[in-house]
Amino acid sequence: MRLSSLLTPLLCGLVAAGSCPYANQARSDDTPSVLPRGSPIEDKKGVMFMNRIAPATSKLYVSNIDGSNPRLLLGNETTFDYHAQWSPDGEWIVFTSERAGDGQSDLYRVRADGTSLQPISTTPAVEDAGSISPNGSLIAFAGTLGNYKANIWIKNLDTGALWNITNSTSVAGNSSLPDGHFRPAWSPDGEWLVFSSDKNTPWRGHNNVSGWEHTQELSIYAIRPDGSDFHRVANKTGYCLGSPKFSPDGSRIVFYEIPTELTYYARVSEPDFYDVGTAIVSVDFATGGNPIEHASADTGGIKLFPQYLDSDTIGYLVKSLLTNTTYPGSINYTSALTEGPAALNANSSLIGHYRSPSWSPDGTKMVYELVEWDPIRPVGKKLYSWSNEWEYRFSDVFPQMSNGGKIAYTSQQTENSSLVTMNPDGTAARDIFDGSRFPALVNASNTNGTFQASWRGDDEVIAVGLGDWFEYRYENPGWVYLVSANGTWTKRVTDGTTNAGFPTISPDGRWLVWREFDYTSDEVAPLGLRRMDLKTGEVVVLSTEWDNTPMFAPDGSNRIVFTRRTSWPISGPYDDNYDVMTMEVDGSNLRRLTTLECNDAHAVWTHEGKIAWASGMYGFQDEAVIYDNNQQPYPFIMQMEADGSNMTALTQSRWEDTMPLYVPNEIWAAS
Ligand SMILES: *[C@@H]1O[C@H](CO)[C@@H](O)[C@H](O)[C@H]1NC(C)=O
Ligand SMILES: *[C@@H]1O[C@H](CO)[C@@H](O)[C@H](O)[C@H]1NC(C)=O
Ligand SMILES: *[C@@H]1O[C@H](CO)[C@@H](O)[C@H](O)[C@H]1NC(C)=O
Ligand SMILES: *[C@@H]1O[C@H](CO)[C@@H](O)[C@H](O)[C@H]1NC(C)=O
Ligand SMILES: *[C@@H]1O[C@H](CO)[C@@H](O)[C@H](O)[C@H]1NC(C)=O
Ligand SMILES: *[C@@H]1O[C@H](CO)[C@@H](O)[C@H](O)[C@H]1NC(C)=O
Ligand SMILES: *[C@@H]1O[C@H](CO)[C@@H](O)[C@H](O)[C@H]1NC(C)=O
Ligand SMILES: *[C@@H]1O[C@H](CO)[C@@H](O)[C@H](O)[C@H]1NC(C)=O
Ligand SMILES: *[C@@H]1O[C@H](CO)[C@@H](O)[C@H](O)[C@H]1NC(C)=O
Ligand SMILES: *[C@@H]1O[C@H](CO)[C@@H](O)[C@H](O)[C@H]1NC(C)=O
Ligand SMILES: *[C@@H]1O[C@H](CO)[C@@H](O)[C@H](O)[C@H]1NC(C)=O
Ligand SMILES: *[C@@H]1O[C@H](CO)[C@@H](O)[C@H](O)[C@H]1NC(C)=O
Repeated sequence: MRLSSLLTPLLCGLVAAGSCPYANQARSDDTPSVLPRGSPIEDKKGVMFMNRIAPATSKLYVSNIDGSNPRLLLGNETTFDYHAQWSPDGEWIVFTSERAGDGQSDLYRVRADGTSLQPISTTPAVEDAGSISPNGSLIAFAGTLGNYKANIWIKNLDTGALWNITNSTSVAGNSSLPDGHFRPAWSPDGEWLVFSSDKNTPWRGHNNVSGWEHTQELSIYAIRPDGSDFHRVANKTGYCLGSPKFSPDGSRIVFYEIPTELTYYARVSEPDFYDVGTAIVSVDFATGGNPIEHASADTGGIKLFPQYLDSDTIGYLVKSLLTNTTYPGSINYTSALTEGPAALNANSSLIGHYRSPSWSPDGTKMVYELVEWDPIRPVGKKLYSWSNEWEYRFSDVFPQMSNGGKIAYTSQQTENSSLVTMNPDGTAARDIFDGSRFPALVNASNTNGTFQASWRGDDEVIAVGLGDWFEYRYENPGWVYLVSANGTWTKRVTDGTTNAGFPTISPDGRWLVWREFDYTSDEVAPLGLRRMDLKTGEVVVLSTEWDNTPMFAPDGSNRIVFTRRTSWPISGPYDDNYDVMTMEVDGSNLRRLTTLECNDAHAVWTHEGKIAWASGMYGFQDEAVIYDNNQQPYPFIMQMEADGSNMTALTQSRWEDTMPLYVPNEIWAAS
């Protein structure tokens, strides 16, 4: 297999076997999906557009365990809700909800009959994976409160006290590495919590380190509710162990077990990857020994959310095309259920598109969510804003603003990767370089089309890449184009002997910079950045490294921000590190602004001359394999000064958040 590389940070898989989110959600029509909204924004400085990869809707249902009699748990108070779990006394269901705004995960509980909805923890951090204690007075959950990383928190429902049980030196890992704690579950006597953690594991690219997206390696740990007696319960070399749950007598814990490498493939939701083998395993809680395999990896399917229904029946979710080709997500049981209203045959999987099942303590009911991706959120949809000064709104990928206040973006999620321009308020949206005008070589899709637009300072011309991107860059060419902003002409700049794309044009119109990739060679090696003098046509080599997504500063300095794989050539087992860099237009004064081994990428200049980018520095916010259509669930949008100082988080969701674009009210009003 070929080595893979950077070149399309954050958007898509980068190996031959990789893939792209939304590959199965492409819209077939080619009309911009834009929600016109008022402008400018009163009481705010303006709008920050940004991209997010998250489902369009998520709804909680309660049904019998055979799937019969489903009803919306929250009835007419259903919003965007997920990750529900039953309380041990059967009275309550705790769940995560984004009712405060798109992207803001908060914790709520509701009675199992759908009444008495109550907030539990609703800070601007991620609060997720709630679990109610056996006596009903404590709720444990995974939350990014305080330091942006996932820790295990407990809230006392009687007193309101809230504490971080992973707040101790015995728990703390190396803060430069993944250091997240996820999915707590109580022991039946309320004395222990088990959870999964990736503390002290490396940032490791998939595909034998070479892939851009990182895998997740979890072990199972235990801790007491006061934070004492922290210890590891189960681990396995080369495997990720997650979502632990106790047996009814507290003697065993059950979890899923998946090869670490497959934690990437299990979350990208591509047909080829659904049947990667995941096992359901239990061990003795006291010793971590005496393993029992309840469901074998050999039967295929990504098996998740195991839970004991009784001492010998375990229910679990199977993401697999073996069971449903449209929305794989079946419920399976390890033994026949002969009692209760929903007696089941062991071999009768419930076929469907279930997600996150949790069973009532008496084993008769389940709560789960159904998610939809289509139609995806329209451009302009209001998102939760983590800033008081800016209203956050959704944009499709690579939004860029002209001096006159026009926006250009690539309609990757909302359409077919045509180039769209619009006013910031969503009016006058049109495809100016659409699929019908592409050369026959390019099929408009999620992975083919126009990527990374860049405006010339006079607003008349846009540079953009047209071609095959992501894993398809290994097979097909890409070209840099200049396009008239009024849609009347297009001009090809590169000749197609390489895969050339992701251009930026200097505001004065003099320089064009893009990245090259050699799609014809089996020897995968970077070609780097090229710069064309648009007066003379002369092309010079600016770099020969794994560089991508260059962008000229808008202030006329012609400084370029870009992303580099700083660990090339590969020299160690975990060398897949990408960082934000800057250089002058002649390639001099090269500076590396980020240093951690997580991925830092997709950097852009803001209107104030700061640099905003997507960073994995806070790690995963949940177990990776639980996501769908998500290549990189970890990045937060960050901002720093142009010299790399003063790093500040602009978002804090559990989803992949990238590609910010500030549109201040002044610019808006003038457009
Ligand atoms: C939901 O339904 C209840 C009961 O029918 C009703 O009282 C309430 O006003 C409804 N709420 C909304 C938001 O429609
Ligand atoms: C973390 O531990 C420190 C020292 O024990 C304590 O002062 C602090 O309040 C704890 N923080 C939380 C959020 O529990
Ligand atoms: C919670 O505990 C972790 C692990 O010790 C620590 O790194 C983190 O700072 C704590 N969070 C807060 C908000 O105290
Ligand atoms: C923490 O991890 C970083 C990155 O791998 C490494 O350079 C550093 O030595 C580690 N620190 C400790 C104390 O192990
Ligand atoms: C409930 O159980 C927890 C341990 O799970 C314990 O700390 C707490 O004191 C108990 N509360 C009551 C009211 O018994
Ligand atoms: C993974 O990469 C290492 C180092 O580059 C190489 O020695 C090894 O053969 C590779 N393994 C596979 C399965 O490709
Ligand atoms: C598993 O955990 C034990 C003790 O906690 C440790 O000694 C061992 O190295 C770990 N093994 C792996 C493969 O992580
Ligand atoms: C579902 O469970 C039955 C037996 O309990 C087993 O035969 C079958 O292989 C399971 N299916 C999957 C996909 O795990
Ligand atoms: C897959 O699940 C969906 C949603 O439950 C259902 O409509 C569809 O019929 C199922 N497909 C198959 C082949 O069972
Ligand atoms: C992109 O276009 C090329 C050339 O037409 C085609 O071979 C390839 O399959 C397309 N890729 C996708 C994902 O449509
Ligand atoms: C479109 O823009 C070009 C400059 O790029 C200009 O020459 C032409 O007149 C414009 N056409 C229309 C119809 O506005
Ligand atoms: C750091 O960034 C914040 C948020 O962007 C800003 O308010 C503050 O002025 C910056 N501080 C410095 C020293 O640049």
